[in-house]
Amino acid sequence: MKVNGKHYLTIWMEGSTVYMIDQTLLPFEFRIFEAKNYRDTCKAISAMIVRGAGAIGVAAGFAMAQACMEGQGGGYLDYIQNARKEIEATRPTARNLFYATERVFNAALKSVESAIREAIAIAEENIQDALAIGKYGQAIIPGKARIATQCNAGWLGFVDHGSALSVVYAARDAGKVLFVYVNETRPRSQGARLTAWELHHENIPHTIIADNACAYFAASEKIDLFVVGADRIARNGDTANKIGTLDKAIIAKEFGIPFYVAAPLSTFDVKCQTGKDIPIEERDEDEVLFQSGTDAEGVYRNIRVSNPGSHALNPAFDVTPAGYITGIITEKGIIKPIEEEIVKICNA
Ligand code: MRU
Repeated sequence: MKVNGKHYLTIWMEGSTVYMIDQTLLPFEFRIFEAKNYRDTCKAISAMIVRGAGAIGVAAGFAMAQACMEGQGGGYLDYIQNARKEIEATRPTARNLFYATERVFNAALKSVESAIREAIAIAEENIQDALAIGKYGQAIIPGKARIATQCNAGWLGFVDHGSALSVVYAARDAGKVLFVYVNETRPRSQGARLTAWELHHENIPHTIIADNACAYFAASEKIDLFVVGADRIARNGDTANKIGTLDKAIIAKEFGIPFYVAAPLSTFDVKCQTGKDIPIEERDEDEVLFQSGTDAEGVYRNIRVSNPGSHALNPAFDVTPAGYITGIITEKGIIKPIEEEIVKICNA
């Protein structure tokens, strides 16, 4: 997508360096972070310089390819096995991270060149999958639609286009008139910071709402449908996504509003029988206790927004049971969140 008229990808690799848009600085500053080796890329994943299931997967694939380049010569197998463990320890929930690491590792057993080719192929597929999700998803968007979303499932969470927001962009391109309710998504505010930044750059009408305001807008008949992303989808359709997604799904069901999940098949994990098998990341309490941003003079500050001396719990994801989900928009079409359809499409 374009930033100030110039086309950017969220993440790419040139030689042995991985480049990525530093998402910790957005929306206040646009800067490219350079990861010169696989450990830098691992740090970028853990610190959420790169984030969002799709982008994390590509970062992990690139990290694995970097490790192969670094480990050439003696002790190659040990080196790449250890690197794989480190990459897989960066974040636990997004399925794409493990999907990409495994694919590149298996290719690395043939040659370093195959590993590099595989990592680049995963990045390319990520773009094509996102485009296809947009194409299928836009068909279910009414001509005039008020769409609510959670977190950032836009191009910043992929290599390009996104999942939930790819549907929005494709619907806009099809001439539909849209308005997007952006749930702020505390504690890290990926909605208020990243989704709002994307929509603003695309001139798509939107408004940020506080996380606890969503029921009010749903009850006031101001939301026509929800479209959210996913970090891991179990065999039975239970879906892990950014914390706060479950309460949006419950609200949707209560008020009879369609609730769609948009995700590529690389986010499905048929080895997880249900959502109970999905590991949920616990993050640092400071993400809840502090907030960062610019003050009225534009100076970046990190301030405490909670009682000094109190502690916080910070689960990063929740699981929406399949029964709350109207449909899952994938790159191969829209399916019902049921085992039969999930297994069929994953094996197709
Ligand atoms: O990496 P995070 O924790 O910011 O990722 C969470 C998400 O981006 C989402 O839950 C998103 O909806 C998944 S699709 C990019």
